[in-house]
Parts: sequence; C-alpha cells; structure tokens
Amino acid sequence: MASTIIFLIYLLATTTTTATTTTTTKITKQPTSTWTLLQSNIGITAMHMQLLPNDRVLIYDRTDFGASNLSLANGKCREDGFDYVLKKDCTAHSVEYDVVSNSFRPLMVLTDVWCSSGSLTPDGTIVQTGGFNDGDHVVRVFKSCDTCDWKELKSGLINRRWYATNHLLPGGRQIIVGGRRQYNYEFYPKISSTEKAYSLPFLVQTNDPDLENNLYPFVFLNPDGNLFIFSNNRAILFDYSRNRVLKKYPQIPGGDPRNYPSTGSAVLLPLRIVQGNVTVVEVLVCGGAPKGAFINSQNGTFDGALKTCGRIKISDPNPKWVMETMPLARVMGDMLLLPNGDVLIINGGSAGTAGWEYGRNPVLHPVVYKPDNPLGHRFKIQTPSTIPRMYHSTAILVRDGRVLVGGSNPHIYYNFTNVLYPTELRFEAFSPSYLDPRLSGARPKILLGSQTQFCYGDQVIIRFMVLGHVDPKSVSVTMVAPSFNTHSFSMNQRLLILEGVNTTVPVGKAKYEVAVRAPPSCYVAPENYYLLFVVHRQIPSEGIWVQIG
Ligand SMILES: *[C@@H]1O[C@H](CO)[C@@H](O)[C@H](O)[C@H]1NC(C)=O
Ligand SMILES: *[C@@H]1O[C@H](CO)[C@@H](O)[C@H](O)[C@H]1NC(C)=O
Ligand SMILES: *[C@@H]1O[C@H](CO)[C@@H](O)[C@H](O)[C@H]1NC(C)=O
Ligand SMILES: *[C@@H]1O[C@H](CO)[C@@H](O)[C@H](O)[C@H]1NC(C)=O
Ligand SMILES: *[C@@H]1O[C@H](CO)[C@@H](O)[C@H](O)[C@H]1NC(C)=O
Repeated sequence: MASTIIFLIYLLATTTTTATTTTTTKITKQPTSTWTLLQSNIGITAMHMQLLPNDRVLIYDRTDFGASNLSLANGKCREDGFDYVLKKDCTAHSVEYDVVSNSFRPLMVLTDVWCSSGSLTPDGTIVQTGGFNDGDHVVRVFKSCDTCDWKELKSGLINRRWYATNHLLPGGRQIIVGGRRQYNYEFYPKISSTEKAYSLPFLVQTNDPDLENNLYPFVFLNPDGNLFIFSNNRAILFDYSRNRVLKKYPQIPGGDPRNYPSTGSAVLLPLRIVQGNVTVVEVLVCGGAPKGAFINSQNGTFDGALKTCGRIKISDPNPKWVMETMPLARVMGDMLLLPNGDVLIINGGSAGTAGWEYGRNPVLHPVVYKPDNPLGHRFKIQTPSTIPRMYHSTAILVRDGRVLVGGSNPHIYYNFTNVLYPTELRFEAFSPSYLDPRLSGARPKILLGSQTQFCYGDQVIIRFMVLGHVDPKSVSVTMVAPSFNTHSFSMNQRLLILEGVNTTVPVGKAKYEVAVRAPPSCYVAPENYYLLFVVHRQIPSEGIWVQIG
C-alpha cells in the first residue's frame, strides 16, 4: 500500500506540467530535488572535473594566477617563470576528491592546464591534453591511488590545444578537436612518430572573426562510427579516419552561436539499443548567447541569454532542427544525462557570455528535460541553489546518482573578496528528485555478484532488490560513460539503454533478475569504464562500475 501511494505521488510529479488546481494538495508531496554543501572550501576552483572508476574525482583549475587556498603536500612548491603572480607557488591547483568519504587531498600539476581537455581511458587512467603557455603542448596522465599524482609525458601534442574538445574513440585512442586558432585535429596516443595533425576547414568556416564561437566544439561519437561535430551554429557528420565530411546539417534556426564564448551546451540523447542496433540518434543543444553578445559584454551591455534548445535526429536522411523553449534562458549551463535518461540543465547565467567578467544574472534553478515527454511538456524547474555558478564552473554525475557542482571564477586571478561573483571554493551536491527518500520503496539496489566485465553483445544477468511492488514493465538498465567536464561541455558523455533479453522475474524475497544484452559494438560504446544502473519507474539504483571491451 505504501509503495502504491508513493508511486501515485511520483506519477503526479512526473507525468505532465499541466497539473490542475485540484491536485495542488498532493503536489506539495512531490519528490523534490535538494542541494547539500559538501565542502565550504575545497581549496581550488573546480574548472575541470572527471569522475574516476574508484569514485574519486580529479579536479583542477589553472596554475599561473596566484595562490589558491590549499597548500601543496609536504612543503612542495613550484617555480615557473610563466606564473603571472607568483615566482614560487606553494599552493595546489588540482585536488583529488573522494566521493565516499567526502574528503580531498592536494595534487601537484607541473605545467599550466588552464582551459584544457581530456578523457578517461579504458584502463582507468585519465589522459589530459594541452592547456596554456608552458602547458599547451603537454600530455599528462593521472591514475588514482592514495599517493598518486600527475605525471607529464615525454611525447606531447603536435599543435597547441587550448579550448579543444576530446573524445574517446573505438580502440582506445582519443581525438582532440580544435582549440584556439587550431582548425585541425590530432589523435593521442599517436600510432607512429610521423603521424600528423589533420586539417578541419569546418572550424574555419564556423569561426566568427574576433568572436570565435567555435571553441570547445560539441563532439559526439555517432553509433555509425563517425563523429558529429557542432561548432557555432551548425554541425557536420565527420569520418575522422578518412578526413571526410559526410554530411552537413542545417544551421540551427535563428543562427545564434552556441559555443564558447557564446557558451551553450549539448548532449547526445539516450541511445536505445533495439535488435542489436541503435537506429535513432538525437542531439539536443540548449542555451548560449545571441550574436554580438560577446562584444556587447566587453562594452558593458549584457544581452539576455538564449532561451531555446534545438533537437535534431542526426540519424534521419533529411534531419531538421526542432526548436523548444526552456523555462529559463541560460548561457554557460551544463547539460548532464541522468541515469534515468533525463537531461539536467544546471549552472550558468541569464545574461552576458563566457570570458572574464562577461557573465551576469546567475540562474540558480536547474531544469530537468524529459526527452520522451510530448513536445511542450518536457521541462521541469528544480530546487535552486544559493551559489552562483558562472564562468569556470562544473558539474558531473557520480555513482550514487547525485550531481557534484563546483567552481565558478570569472576573474583572471583568484579573487575571493570585493568582486562580483568571487572565486568560488564551495563544493555542492545536487540530488535530483529521484533521490527523495519517499521513493525508497521503489528504488532498486543492484545485488553483489552481478557481472561487471562485458564483451560486446554479451548476455548479462543483473540481480537487484526492490522493497516495494515491482512493475516489470518499468524496469530498464542503463549505462552512462563518465565524462570530462569543463566550460559547460561534458566530453564523452553518452547513455545507453540496454536491450532486454527477457522480462524482470522474481528470484527471492524482494529480489529480481533481468537479462539484458551488453552494447553491440565499440561504435555504440567505446571500450571503457561505465556506470550501470537499474532504473525502475524512472528511479535509478546506485550505479555499479562495469567495463566493456
Ligand atoms: C584559506 O582561507 C582561510 C580563510 O580565509 C585562511 O585562513 C587560510 O590561510 C587560507 N589558506 C591558504 C593555504 O591560503
Ligand atoms: C544499424 O542501423 C543503421 C541505421 O539504421 C544502419 O545503417 C546499420 O546498417 C545497422 N547496422 C546493423 C549491424 O544492423
Ligand atoms: C564597443 O565599444 C567600442 C569602443 O568604444 C566601439 O568601437 C564598438 O563599436 C562598440 N561595440 C558595440 C557592439 O557597441
Ligand atoms: C584580483 O587578484 C589579483 C591578484 O591577486 C589582484 O592583483 C587584483 O587587484 C584583484 N582584483 C580585485 C578586483 O581585487
Ligand atoms: C531470463 O534469461 C536468463 C538468461 O538466459 C535466464 O537465466 C532466466 O531464467 C530467464 N528468465 C525467464 C523468466 O525467462
């Protein structure tokens, strides 16, 4: 009975946005999202974040702009002639945060990692590329352990990469696309010492003189093996192995820019595997700043951010953008795929652009977008934070289904006082409404002993517990790739809805099992660690780490 009531309340909360006045008393019992302050001071500003497969998070900012609020361990210091403020800097600009114990330790990064990019790789190492000044050609790795630290590799990049986007590819290499004044791409690691960078004229075509709007392009691996690359206001389907543009997608209606500094965000919507294949592939691009906003910000006029999203079925022979309107305009928002397939839009402001001092009016309310709801009924405003998360803020999904939120520093230096939007050291968690304790009767818990190493196409049996009534038809299994987040874009982000082999069956008191098929290929799911979730009535379990490949 109790679980039935919970289910009814949950339905009210999730079905439509057209709730009438007759339901208002029950609406107050809706599951709600909440915020928790995890650390009032994490020492650095979280400009880049990556979740690692041991539930720790690698966080870093830049190295050259003064003293952070966290000393390096064991009295270590860095001397670097490129530092703008300190000749000798004994503070950390990177930390490793442990999600489970809510603690962190300083790390030492040697050269400047400012506005860089990276990717988790199949062995659990993060490979980070580029940055600024002495760091712009450098490749660094971090593999987590209690005492591990950053390592710089001898082999670096061919071109400097500052504001580039990385994507993990089938086979385990990553592609590094673009960057400031880089209209090309390269791979890491190289297959041979003679491997070159390859030109990508699309990044020239989408570069607005003086404004750019082509930085941190939105790059997704299409399950057909090609890359979808969105820059400024349009996109291509690109065969990176043969350096060929296969398709040009139409310009997004309105033509306003969506990439840095007119920073919007984008996701590849959940990929549903049907009969061993993904046939419908969609991309959603939301927010950004209107044309000219960057120049206007420099002149002290902060234009209202874009309120629109464009959704496009990139698998269609003649794809068209379908425009939707968000309840709140947003620039520098992050878009994250939640384990149940919803899209969270979080952080950012409602005026101005990215860049030093150019953003205004923080948007404190996240918004959830439900891709499967009918058009016009997809957005739902969430509980607000109290902390502005402007330029250089970040957000990532962690295994327990929360979203960690950090950073925000629109200043060239660490400026903790006497400025608009001071350098932000507070570190928070956003708990989506599916974590509301009132839903605990319907929440699945994956049981130990479930398989965690998958080969492509494997049949996998997942066992889980649910205390309340189970509706076998509303059980699904999803896999989420842990992404690298910076500048409002989550590189490598993808969510797979696995194909069921049979339906969920009871196997004991409150225990169930479901057989699903692992993703069919490395084009659908490049070899890597993923978080696997059982989702019941849109409520995800805690994830478990699995590896495929
Ligand atoms: C961090 O900030 C606190 C409070 O302002 C200050 O007392 C402390 O000295 C700072 N630590 C470092 C390493 O800057
Ligand atoms: C998967 O679907 C795509 C798009 O419909 C099609 O081009 C491709 O041939 C299919 N692949 C397989 C293995 O069926
Ligand atoms: C911004 O200000 C500069 C210098 O005053 C001026 O030349 C430029 O036209 C202004 N731009 C806009 C878009 O108002
Ligand atoms: C910000 O910090 C830098 C370096 O410490 C300092 O030079 C500058 O005056 C600060 N800006 C403000 C507005 O306090
Ligand atoms: C579902 O498939 C798994 C794996 O083949 C099997 O062990 C289980 O008995 C099946 N359950 C039902 C109800 O068919």
